[in-house]
Amino acid sequence: MSKFHAVHRCQKCGATQTRWAGRCPSCGEWGSLREELEVRRALPPAGIGRGALLGLSDEGARATGALDLAEIDPAGCPPMPTGLTEVDRVLAGGLVPGSATLLGGEPGTGKSTLLLQVLASMASSGRRCLLVAAEEAAHQVRRRASRLGADVPGVLVVEATDLASVEAALASVAPEVAVVDSVQAVGDGELASSAGSPAQVRASANRLVALAKGTGTAIILVGHVTKDGTLAGPRALEHLVDTVLSFEGDRYSALRALRSLKHRYGPTGETGLFEMGETGLSGVADPSNLFLGDRKAGVPGSAVTVPVEGHRPLLVEVQALVGRSTQVPRRYVTGLDAGRVGFLVAVLERWAGVQVGERDVYVSVAGGARAPEPAADLAVCLALASCVSGAPVPAGLVAIGEVGLGGEVRRVSAMAKRLAEASRLGFSQALVPPQALPAASTASVVARPATTLAEALALALFGAARPARAPTGEVYPWRPSRAGRGRRPVGPGTRLRALPAPAPS
Ligand code: TYD
Ligand code: MG
Repeated sequence: MSKFHAVHRCQKCGATQTRWAGRCPSCGEWGSLREELEVRRALPPAGIGRGALLGLSDEGARATGALDLAEIDPAGCPPMPTGLTEVDRVLAGGLVPGSATLLGGEPGTGKSTLLLQVLASMASSGRRCLLVAAEEAAHQVRRRASRLGADVPGVLVVEATDLASVEAALASVAPEVAVVDSVQAVGDGELASSAGSPAQVRASANRLVALAKGTGTAIILVGHVTKDGTLAGPRALEHLVDTVLSFEGDRYSALRALRSLKHRYGPTGETGLFEMGETGLSGVADPSNLFLGDRKAGVPGSAVTVPVEGHRPLLVEVQALVGRSTQVPRRYVTGLDAGRVGFLVAVLERWAGVQVGERDVYVSVAGGARAPEPAADLAVCLALASCVSGAPVPAGLVAIGEVGLGGEVRRVSAMAKRLAEASRLGFSQALVPPQALPAASTASVVARPATTLAEALALALFGAARPARAPTGEVYPWRPSRAGRGRRPVGPGTRLRALPAPAPS
């Protein structure tokens, strides 16, 4: 049998197909499949297959290197702390020896800056560090390090773009931590395709990861994201590495977020927050305070909620503005799921009589923060209804809850943690689903439970225990206007008619 076999690899996403096709079945790109020769995978030696292993005696299994799970030391290979609290939070303690990490992000977000700070911090604690500068000259790195105060002894820098030179440097320095900045700039001269092509990136990453695993070096590969937000050759790289981190940030804001998308040594989804300043990146120790720093309480159109970033609750301000629409109503959404805001606009109209569907709607999370989870629904609705009615949300109130298609307020996870953070920041009331009452009692926050969106809006904006009842029998916190003019939102001076108490059954 031939040692090689032909595969058709997509030059965009890296997925392989056994047959050629005009369009990649994985990513949908047209004309991207190219034939490549691949080494056939060696079959396991006879007797090492799973079925065979199960039938072996204890001694036989040991001879194959298999160990009983209970005998394996769970404390083996502890992580090396980087010394940067926010990075260590995301990595669940630090970099594990022999691990491979991919750090992705758009150009200019600060990946090189962050990693230089990581290397400087680790070198200060006596670790052997190597930076492979494939994009910048060594003197540029040095200048940046001086600005960052990261020009500590112990960080070795090598300029290299050729894969063989990078491998040689890694082998001769044998660092504990190595950064390759960036993997797209490293190429294998023996391959026909140019550096940066998916085939080259994959080949470089493959060999560097294998080398790191063999030598125990924790390697970090920097990867630039493409326009559509994915790392070049994403599938091929993501399954190769143990950890995939993404460094995100708007270039007009100083806030940067480091998120873990995959982590084999700890929980994923954790987020570290940084501020980019004159002297590099500094961790944000109290993000809630930062996000609420510029808030003007008592202004209509603003509501505070508590999304959970990774495992950390954060207080953020949701702001809404509703304007007259000249053509097709438009939606501008920042920091939230735009589809979800559209859905909430429909729910507000149908179940709370807040007429915003035909108007331009702007909703954003202030300060570059994000709240993409459904727990922010109630705050989005509250901010919109507050803007329309002109009634401000009480300064000490947070709103936490999902809103369903039926206009009901639904429970969300981690309520106790969210309420405790709200209480820490001095918030005294929380608009929540009724199921959150036990959590509120432990967090010293006064809970304002609401079962429906209409009830929640009446409670938060007008202090009414119950929404007004429209003559049609429907329940709105908004007063119906004269016939044929649609419903007019209730303003601050409007008298709401409380619903009669339900008749005892
Ligand atoms: P960089 O780390 O080069 O980004 P990447 O490697 O992701 O392409 O960061 C570049 C940006 O960071 C650049 O726009 C300037 C800014 N910056 C600061 O604001 N302060 C600093 O101390 C440094 C080093 C960079
Ligand atoms: Mg860079």
